[in-house]
Amino acid sequence: MDTALSAERLEVMKHLGKDLDGLIAEYLKPIDENWQPSDFLPDSRNEDFVREVKLLQESCRDLPYDYMAVLIGDTITEEALPTYESWLMDVIGVNQVGEPESGWVKWVRAWTAEENRHGDLLNKYLYLSGRVNMRAMEVSTQYLIADGFDIGTDRDPYRNFIYTSFQELATNVSHRRTATLAKKFGNPHLSKICGVIASDEARHAKAYKTFVSRILEVDPSEMVIALEDMMKKKIVMPAHFMRESGVKMGDTFAHFSDAAQRLGVYTTIDYIEILESLLVEWELGTLGGINEKAEKARDYLMALPSRLRRIADRTRIPELAYEFSWIS
Ligand SMILES: [Fe+2]
Ligand SMILES: [Fe+2]
Repeated sequence: MDTALSAERLEVMKHLGKDLDGLIAEYLKPIDENWQPSDFLPDSRNEDFVREVKLLQESCRDLPYDYMAVLIGDTITEEALPTYESWLMDVIGVNQVGEPESGWVKWVRAWTAEENRHGDLLNKYLYLSGRVNMRAMEVSTQYLIADGFDIGTDRDPYRNFIYTSFQELATNVSHRRTATLAKKFGNPHLSKICGVIASDEARHAKAYKTFVSRILEVDPSEMVIALEDMMKKKIVMPAHFMRESGVKMGDTFAHFSDAAQRLGVYTTIDYIEILESLLVEWELGTLGGINEKAEKARDYLMALPSRLRRIADRTRIPELAYEFSWIS
């Protein structure tokens, strides 16, 4: 991004940053009222602890292989939070060295603090489940954090907020579906766990969508152009960079994604529906006062969902389950 554009972004971020306390209060929960992982886990101080763990293990015994794979992949992605936090802190206008702490820094820290509970809860649950090779899972987590990622947003706040809007919606969908499936597989406890995480993701999605809406009010052309650019590159989920020991980068994700598609936890159609919902939410169809380049970008975006649907009809998902090192 060139210097002139960066300077404009900085101005917009400063302008919106003034209002952030209100948004933090609206979209994040006070810490003392928030759920914590231990609310959903056996208390190891209890005499009954071992019996409760046995029951938990029984309720996990019949969870299908693909389901376990998806849950583990979801956990690993949640656990790579250090990458996401440091990435967001580096976005233009968030953390200005030498200036007093901005509202954006507060947002990123508070958002991270909420998100941190997701990986924590899932990790402890999987540890107790008796179904997981924890060491292999931990190796993948360490790889994902050590590798870092490039999600194609650069340090641009516009592209980053489009990305996070999309990504929070996608995680809402996938955690919601693992909740529904857990119930179907006879594990209401796990269903509750996935459900509370899904509702956090929905709240976060609302926040990021609001950030984009506010930017659309002050800088619509640039935001539409940023959206076109992100959609042309495709939104790549953080899980994309996940790998197992000795497995080529990309392969683990491909198998994880196949499992998610087979189960219907997160599919190509979900990707398209999320895009459609964002086009409606941001009122792209009726957006006025944009320049010629943005008009063209808008035309591209409005036609994109039906184009993607035509391609989606042709993709086939392999039937064969792959053997993940995470499950033993
Ligand atoms: Fe999360
Ligand atoms: Fe999230």
